[in-house]
Amino acid sequence: MNRLPRDRPARVADGGATTTSLTPPLVGDLHLVGHQLPVPLVTGEEVPYLNLDYAASTPPLVRVAEAVQAFLPWYSSVHRGAGHKSQVATAAYEGARERVHRFLGLRADDQVLFVRNTTDAINLLASALPDGCQVITFAVEHHANLLPWRRPGLSARHLPVPATPGDALEQLDSALRDRPAGPCLVAVTGASNVTGEIWPIGELAEVAHRHGARILLDAAQLAPHHPIDVAGLEVDFVAFSGHKIYAPFGAGVLAGRGDWLRAPVPYLRGGGAVEFVTLDTVLWSDLPDRQEAGSPNVVGAVALGAACEALSGYGMERLAAEEMALARYARERIGAVEDVELYRLWPETHPRLAIATFNVRGLWHSQLAAILSAEYGIGVRHGCFCAHPLILSLLHVGTTEAERIRTEISDGAKGRVPGAVRASMGLGTTRDDVDALAAALDSIVKWGPRWTYRLDAATGEYVPDPETRPMPALPIALAPVGARGGESS
Ligand SMILES: Cc1ncc(COP(=O)(O)O)c(C=O)c1O
Repeated sequence: MNRLPRDRPARVADGGATTTSLTPPLVGDLHLVGHQLPVPLVTGEEVPYLNLDYAASTPPLVRVAEAVQAFLPWYSSVHRGAGHKSQVATAAYEGARERVHRFLGLRADDQVLFVRNTTDAINLLASALPDGCQVITFAVEHHANLLPWRRPGLSARHLPVPATPGDALEQLDSALRDRPAGPCLVAVTGASNVTGEIWPIGELAEVAHRHGARILLDAAQLAPHHPIDVAGLEVDFVAFSGHKIYAPFGAGVLAGRGDWLRAPVPYLRGGGAVEFVTLDTVLWSDLPDRQEAGSPNVVGAVALGAACEALSGYGMERLAAEEMALARYARERIGAVEDVELYRLWPETHPRLAIATFNVRGLWHSQLAAILSAEYGIGVRHGCFCAHPLILSLLHVGTTEAERIRTEISDGAKGRVPGAVRASMGLGTTRDDVDALAAALDSIVKWGPRWTYRLDAATGEYVPDPETRPMPALPIALAPVGARGGESS
């Protein structure tokens, strides 16, 4: 019943800056750091880790880790540093900006700002929108594309979950026709982080522009898996995260039109963003410095630039086609397991990322995720994926029930939020991996868990009881897990 260790032979990197054990290249000449790392099971065996959690965060590409390793000796302060290292570091930081510019197919005069992640990028944009701006989103969005718009000075309108892509276009058209005069931003995801559908961004941009609105593409999910041509799609702003595009070194991007980003007062105020300061006045710099106050994450930017280069080298069109074929296979296989309910927004034939979000009837999502990890070495995400309104809609949780859950949670009962399990795939995920997940689900449905689990009151999560898996010996501090809750993205 156990998932057998997959027999991909490991070989050791031959010298190079990163001494990581390499499996054969995943696609093209791309490897991932830590791919198929052996992990313990509660039953005492070890199996190669099956990572099906790419939509939350990706491991680094070896090429990215090598770029970081090569850059670290040259790491120094950027911009005004006169030392040679500072000049090299500045060139690397600005070189990364150029790579991102090319990767996104931006217009020549578009700006690229380095931020922490997509959440930071969207909060920055929210801070820069003209006063009175209306922001229109759909109820499918990640919280990062819902909550930043709820600030004084903006008005947020959420359109219902559309039944089809055509419905999304119609809803937007009619919302924009009825909107109050003044600036307006349509903020949409490129692909659902819950169900994987790729949104009709070009058409949505066309509708937005026809009504004098602008459009933000939340590309947190799209950018790592699909080509993006900002100029061709006529998108005004785009945001994405390094940690979802194989460069988990703490940088993200907000890019697009400079006029709104050149807000009178920047998002962060401090050194690096100014030309001149007196005790009563400040002369802010122009972009990008104006919106990059404080010492920037140079290493993160270098990593992100290297990831963009590596993926472009492989070919984003090719990658997207391969991953869409994998998506079809995965959804067919997983959806065919007895008692599995697979969620989707739009018909199965609609193009989508390799994401399958599901529940197994009779099992709570957090318990299923715990079993897959503890007994099969399979890493998935579970919960609401930072998209509570969408999950409530997919699970048909009405407003009265939602209110009851809200009250229970605010009274301290964790673990009551309904949710699902998400398997998300990326570079290196194979049909064998999908088969391994389907076989594990099949066996859980037929035979149940082979271990005992308890609900941890502090986190509201199921955990193996007893937990027998040791933590690895690492030269860093490891605190007990489960000490803090938080939502899953
Ligand atoms: C569609 C979407 N937007 C925004 C975010 C937020 O990204 P980050 O956590 O990197 O800020 C996520 C993260 O899962 C996402 O899936």
